[in-house]
Amino acid sequence: MLSASVFMSYANESKPVAIVNCSQLVTLAGPARPRVGPELLALGIVSRGGLFVRDGLIERVGTSAEIEASIDSSTTVVDAGGRVLLPGFVDAHTHPVFAGTRVDEFEERSRGATYQEIAARGGGIQSTVNRTRAAGVDELVATGRRYADWFLRGGTTTVEAKSGYGLSLEDELKILRAIKRLDDETPLRYVPTFLGAHSVPPEYRARRDEYVSLIIEEMLPQVARQKLAEYCDVFCEEKVFTVDESWRILSAARCHGLGLRMHADQLSLSGGAKLAAELGTVTADHLEHTDAAGMEALKQAHVQPVLLPGSVYALGSSRYPAAREMIDAGLAVVLATDFNPGSSPTPSMTMILSLAATHMKMTPAEAISAATINAAYSLNRGDKLGSLEPGKIADFVIHDAEDYRELGYFFGIEHPWRVYAQGKLSHGSHG
Ligand code: NIG
Ligand code: FE
Repeated sequence: MLSASVFMSYANESKPVAIVNCSQLVTLAGPARPRVGPELLALGIVSRGGLFVRDGLIERVGTSAEIEASIDSSTTVVDAGGRVLLPGFVDAHTHPVFAGTRVDEFEERSRGATYQEIAARGGGIQSTVNRTRAAGVDELVATGRRYADWFLRGGTTTVEAKSGYGLSLEDELKILRAIKRLDDETPLRYVPTFLGAHSVPPEYRARRDEYVSLIIEEMLPQVARQKLAEYCDVFCEEKVFTVDESWRILSAARCHGLGLRMHADQLSLSGGAKLAAELGTVTADHLEHTDAAGMEALKQAHVQPVLLPGSVYALGSSRYPAAREMIDAGLAVVLATDFNPGSSPTPSMTMILSLAATHMKMTPAEAISAATINAAYSLNRGDKLGSLEPGKIADFVIHDAEDYRELGYFFGIEHPWRVYAQGKLSHGSHG
C-alpha cells in the first residue's frame, strides 16, 4: 500500500548539510519555555537565511551568506530556491493506530446523523475498536506506516500517538507495541500515550466500575512496567468517563510516573478543564465548551490547552474553542490535528493552520508557534524540538512557499518541498 520510495533515503546520509537561500528561516528562537501572549507572534525570522546541520543536529543558524561561508568539500549543499524553512510540525494529539475506516459513518453524517447518535447505537469509537481488536500487530503497523507517510508529506516530524482502540489489556498493549515499532521503523517520531479510558467497551457497560478497575489495576501497571507510554489520557465526558472516574484513572497513572493529558469539555461542559487544573495535567485537549472559569483554572495550574479545530470542522460543528480568549488569558496554546478515523480524519497541520486563522481568529504567527514550539513543550521536548536553534534536533521542512503565511492561506494542498527528520531527507527528492 505504502510506496517504499519515501523512506529510501532514511539511513544513507551522514555528511553535514548546509541549506542556503531560504526566503525566510522561521526559527522560533526565544525563551526556553512555552510561549504566551505576544510571544506567540515572535517567530524569530531570518530573512535570506540558512542552516548548517551535522550528525542530525542543528549546528548553525544564520543568513545564507554566513552559512555559505562554512561550506567545505565535505558538505552537502541544498539550495532552497527562495523558499521558506520552518521546524517540522509537532502534532501533539493524534490517534494514528487503528484498523479500517469509518467512511460509512461519514456518509451517514452527510445525511444528517450526528456523531453522538452513531456512537449511541454501537458505532463510532466502538466500530473502530471491533476492527482493531481483530487486527494483528503487523497489520496495524502496515496501516500505521501509510499514515506516517501522510504526516511526513504534510511537514509533521513528531506526533503524540494515543492507544485507545483496544480497550482490553492485550489489545491496548498491541497498539502501544505497534506505535513503538512505527517509531523505530519510520522517520516520524512518536510520543506514546495510553488511552485505555477512551470508551467503556460493551462487555463492561453494565459494570463500568470493573472497567475502571481493570485500567487501574492491570493495564496501567503493565503499560508502565513495559515502558510503552509516556503519558496517560482520559476521554472525560458526561457519557464516557465521569469526572470522578477520570480523577481515579489519572491519579493512578501519576503514581506510575506517567504524564497526564485529558480530552476535556469536547462535547459538553463536563468539568474536564477544572479537573485538569485540579490535577495539574500537562494538557487539556479540545475545550470547545470550556467557560471563563475553566480557562482561569487552567491558567493558574499552567495547563497547556491543545486545540483541535479539525474535529470541529469534520463533525460539521461551528463551536470552535475560544482560542482568542485563551491567548488573552495568557494560556500557552497548542494546535494539533486529533488525527483519528471518526471525528478528525486529517493528518494535515497546514489544514489546522487554516482553520485556526479562519475560525479561531489566531494570526498565522500565533498558529505556527502553537504548532511547533508550544507543542514540543507540551510533550516535554521543548529543549530538543519545535525551534531551529543550535543543538536542537534537525527536524525541519522546506515548504514550497515564499512567505510562512502561505501555509494556512493556500489550503487543501500539501506545501512541503523537502522534509528532514534528524537531518535526513525523509520526504521529497534529492534532485
Ligand atoms: O479526540 N474524543 C474522543 N476521541 C476522539 C474521537 C475518536 C473517534 O471518533 O474514533 C477525538 O475526537
Ligand atoms: Fe482525540
